[in-house]
Amino acid sequence: MDVRTLDTNGFVSFDYPILLRDAVGEAMESWKAFCTLPIEQKRLLSGGDRIKDFGYMCRQDAGPNADEKELFHALRANYPELLPKAQLVGDKRATDFIEAVDVLLYRMGPVVQIFAREVEKRYGIPGFEDDVMQSQDYWTFRYLRYPKNKPILANKHGDRGGFTFHLGETEGGGQYLDLHERVWKEWPVSEKRTIIFPSMGLQHRSKGQLKALWHQVVPTESSASERFAMVTFVDFQGTHRFDDSRFNMKDFEPGFNYEIPFNEFDKYFVPRPVMMPG
Ligand SMILES: [Fe+2]
Repeated sequence: MDVRTLDTNGFVSFDYPILLRDAVGEAMESWKAFCTLPIEQKRLLSGGDRIKDFGYMCRQDAGPNADEKELFHALRANYPELLPKAQLVGDKRATDFIEAVDVLLYRMGPVVQIFAREVEKRYGIPGFEDDVMQSQDYWTFRYLRYPKNKPILANKHGDRGGFTFHLGETEGGGQYLDLHERVWKEWPVSEKRTIIFPSMGLQHRSKGQLKALWHQVVPTESSASERFAMVTFVDFQGTHRFDDSRFNMKDFEPGFNYEIPFNEFDKYFVPRPVMMPG
């Protein structure tokens, strides 16, 4: 995996290993099946709160920037709470779906490990690979279902966690803000190819060498159909985290972090209490 494109493009793009692609396909199907459950049953799988949320969420914000979608966060750390809730639904569509995450985690582990190892070497971040791999229980699998016919499907933002592995999407429309030209470009995601890009956490950990990539989702020509997508927010044991109690991505200028000196970027972070094993 050539991570040098992180400097030029802001992301790494590569062909899926076949087994991982199959696992992504199956997880996507199981998510679509889950979505067909009645809303009251889906709500049985909710948990957490606005910041530490997990399970099923249905965002129905109001206003011109409404970010309306169904999503599901699955972390292995939440299984003890999530699995009994899924069983309570009493429908295979709920349990199969949660189990698909385990297969995914198992198959994407080696790919994430290579990425972390190469980043550690190239950007001189001691212990990075170990920190990433010891945090697998805290990697967040986010499943999304976007409604039809909306002017914007996902607002412009950078992700807050460590880095983001974009696993797949049923429709195009994903765009990133080019690091140098500052224009929106379509990201190279297809059935065969996928991308990993840094989030705020990795920008901080690399002392600003890497930049959290801004992205958005706009409707495509064929956006009469629904869009389903899956991403993994790979988090890692770190000393600081983005302070989302004080800062909201909506208030930042897209790409605000691309040229900023590290000491200024650091102001958006707070020390993080140790919460992960290892
Ligand atoms: Fe995102």
